[in-house]
Amino acid sequence: MKSIYLIGFMGSGKTSVAKRLSEVLHVSLIDTDDLIEETYQTTIANIFAKSGEKTFRDYETDILRKTPIKDRIISTGGGIIERQENIDWLKSNGIVIYLQTSWQEIVHRLKDDSARPIWNNEQRDKKKMLEKRDIKYKETADYIIITDGKTPEMIVNELITLIK
Ligand code: S3P
Repeated sequence: MKSIYLIGFMGSGKTSVAKRLSEVLHVSLIDTDDLIEETYQTTIANIFAKSGEKTFRDYETDILRKTPIKDRIISTGGGIIERQENIDWLKSNGIVIYLQTSWQEIVHRLKDDSARPIWNNEQRDKKKMLEKRDIKYKETADYIIITDGKTPEMIVNELITLIK
């Protein structure tokens, strides 16, 4: 099986859906953010604070290319599509699923989140970012699943039907 890459904005449920999907399909799970933290022995927040976003994006691109393109469920960071080379890589190597989530739902899910550096930006900027990224997520994805009002189980069931 080609690896399944989950893409989508912060708060779209990539991590929970990836966990559930890996249990149901009995396929190992990789989270690119976790892999960055393990590889560089620091937190994402620290990388942003000490080395800046560009360094984080360099790490992210490097880690993405090292993910196995077979037999894995891979949850990616919300900004993975910020680099065209990542879009190209994902399109040619994986089955890409976009978990599409509305702005209202994202705000609701992340209201108390302070761990994500990008989520600390101005509300108006983040909303614009979602609108811009939505185009790129769509361009990259093989399949799109709307997640609003759905549990990870519901999303996984939908996903399995789609990729069959
Ligand atoms: C980011 C999303 C985060 C993480 C980093 C940057 C982004 O991942 O990669 O904080 O640019 O949207 P999640 O989408 O898992 O929150």
